[in-house]
Amino acid sequence: MGLDRAASIEDLRCRARRRIPRFAFDLVDGGAESERNLRRNSEALEEVELIPRYMMDVSALDTRATLLGQTYDAPLGMAPIGMLNAFWPNADETLARLCKRHNLPYVASSAASTTLEALAEAADGNGWFQLYVSSDDDVTEGLIQRAEAAGYTTLIVTADVPAAGKRDRDIRNQLAVPFRITPAVIAGLLANPRWSLATLIHGKPNIANYAGLLRSATSYADVQKTLITPALTWEGLERLRGRWKGKLLVKGILHPDDARGCLAIGCDGIIVSNHGGRQVAFGPPTIEMLPAIAEAVGGRMAIIMDSGVRRGADMLRAKALGADFALAGRALAYGVGAGGAAGAERAFEILHLELIRALGQLGASSFESVGPSALRRGHSEAD
Ligand SMILES: Cc1cc2nc3c(=O)[nH]c(=O)nc-3n(C[C@H](O)[C@H](O)[C@H](O)COP(=O)(O)O)c2cc1C
Repeated sequence: MGLDRAASIEDLRCRARRRIPRFAFDLVDGGAESERNLRRNSEALEEVELIPRYMMDVSALDTRATLLGQTYDAPLGMAPIGMLNAFWPNADETLARLCKRHNLPYVASSAASTTLEALAEAADGNGWFQLYVSSDDDVTEGLIQRAEAAGYTTLIVTADVPAAGKRDRDIRNQLAVPFRITPAVIAGLLANPRWSLATLIHGKPNIANYAGLLRSATSYADVQKTLITPALTWEGLERLRGRWKGKLLVKGILHPDDARGCLAIGCDGIIVSNHGGRQVAFGPPTIEMLPAIAEAVGGRMAIIMDSGVRRGADMLRAKALGADFALAGRALAYGVGAGGAAGAERAFEILHLELIRALGQLGASSFESVGPSALRRGHSEAD
């Protein structure tokens, strides 16, 4: 199937699955334990019903969204994804360039397989930097200084990885640190020559920002210790707030009290997220927590939603339930896996055209005008 015949993000996902060795596809596609949370994120979004209104003259439609003083062409950014070049060679820079081209924010992960400096250059002013707070203060400070020097003005602190997620697919695929060549890996490489060749040319992916520090890691626990502290507290977050002069957002918020905490220490916004269902299987789908969080925040800081966005209408569902903006992780990544830069372009095109169509069908001439009144009664009363 050619890229132009891919009608949906799911079509791109299927195409990516055929081109990528299983261990690498599962690394991005999989979720925690039973993957209940992963599935529920998209299902719960789909269950949010909006009521179309007619006779509204929607001959001109505006998908722009203003966030933290900046106007973007669509209410969608690229979520931070670690080690994405293992999914498709050069995926990080491909997506950073896509975001620049369409005037969308691109969030560079501190665990990315490309350095934060190279991604700042590729995103060219549209980049934000996502920070995992390390157990070692010097590592955290080093990353902050590099992010400042590279020109990032928005910092996203990810809060939802106090313990590593357990991903059963990765265990079955024997994905471990250090990476081992197993018979299944060899079979995957032989079955996907295009991926194997491109990976050979581009070089083995690693967690680029920590390359030196992680060289001696002999287990995933070692990597986790360097990358992410289990001991982050409100005091620690407040210190970061004082340290970072630009905009600071906290990612991974699911409880209204945690949203209030972020507000109290002066954060500029939060990302309501369950990490795309990669951390826990027992939690709620993100969209179901959004209304109560939006109520707690009361318009006093920006709210971004992620986890499960697969359709253009999902951005409208999130907006109607109180978000200002959305991020997509896998949806855009599947595009790269399906066809490199052209596939990334196709993924954004699908989501953007779906968004435009949904706006018209909803009777809303702009994304910004969508609010709770678009919801079917019952959802607007949900908590
Ligand atoms: C393979 C993978 C790696 C991720 N790595 C990071 C990361 O390094 N930092 C982070 O804050 N979130 C990370 N996330 C979570 C995403 O930023 C985002 O919250 C999630 O993908 C949203 O769900 P979606 O994929 O359904 O859109 C990762 C997600 C995936 C799928």
